[in-house]
Amino acid sequence: MVKKWRCTVCAYIHEGPEPPDICPVCGAGKEFFEEVKEESGEKAAGGSGLPTWQLDGSETQVEVIRPAIFKISYGLYVVTSINGGRKNGQTANTVFQVTDNPMRVAAGLNKNNLTCEFVRESGVFAVNILGQDGHDMVRHFGFRSGRDVDKFADVAYVTGVTGAPIIEKCIAYLECRVLPEKTVDVGSHYLFIAEVVAGKLKVDAEPMTYAYYRRTK
Ligand SMILES: Cc1cc2nc3c(=O)[nH]c(=O)nc-3n(C[C@H](O)[C@H](O)[C@H](O)COP(=O)(O)O)c2cc1C
Repeated sequence: MVKKWRCTVCAYIHEGPEPPDICPVCGAGKEFFEEVKEESGEKAAGGSGLPTWQLDGSETQVEVIRPAIFKISYGLYVVTSINGGRKNGQTANTVFQVTDNPMRVAAGLNKNNLTCEFVRESGVFAVNILGQDGHDMVRHFGFRSGRDVDKFADVAYVTGVTGAPIIEKCIAYLECRVLPEKTVDVGSHYLFIAEVVAGKLKVDAEPMTYAYYRRTK
């Protein structure tokens, strides 16, 4: 049976024969991990109808909450936009469908990002949905800013109906027009809610997810 190790600093659970050298959540070293001893039989399986764990007062601590929030699943996308004749794009995981009818999506973009500035200015963006071979695109658009480099200088793309660039290496894309009255200022980010006005499935392949990217990067 696979062993489980709990980080005593942040409660992150690692599965494997040994604890990790460094906790991926809080950075604590191997020595901070303790093995989780599972209770056997009916009780552990919850078969008695009684819960197998209880609140212990730690649940409101940020370091206890964080490993839980990291269990939310995401896709991984390149959000592109325009401003005048300029194009830019960034990697984003915080994109999701809000409603199917009308077709609306939301994207959470950091206010410091050039892409966010472009979306605010132009009111349009495209969600480029990556396939599972899209690691290079995640890196290309996710680790440097369009303020320092022209990210489209060496990336193949076509211009969509909104003017936003659609990158060649996506399996599907959605072009979106921001609903200005539904843009939410959430502090560090804006949450843009937008109408999907165009889009296409180009290749019927498995999309990239954040979990898959982290496992295989
Ligand atoms: C895996 C990954 C996921 C990311 N998710 C988001 C996100 O959801 N929202 C966001 O604002 N930035 C996110 N980023 C960070 C931006 O992609 C990054 O800051 C980018 O350099 C901004 O570029 P820009 O200034 O050209 O817009 C992510 C980066 C990576 C590598």
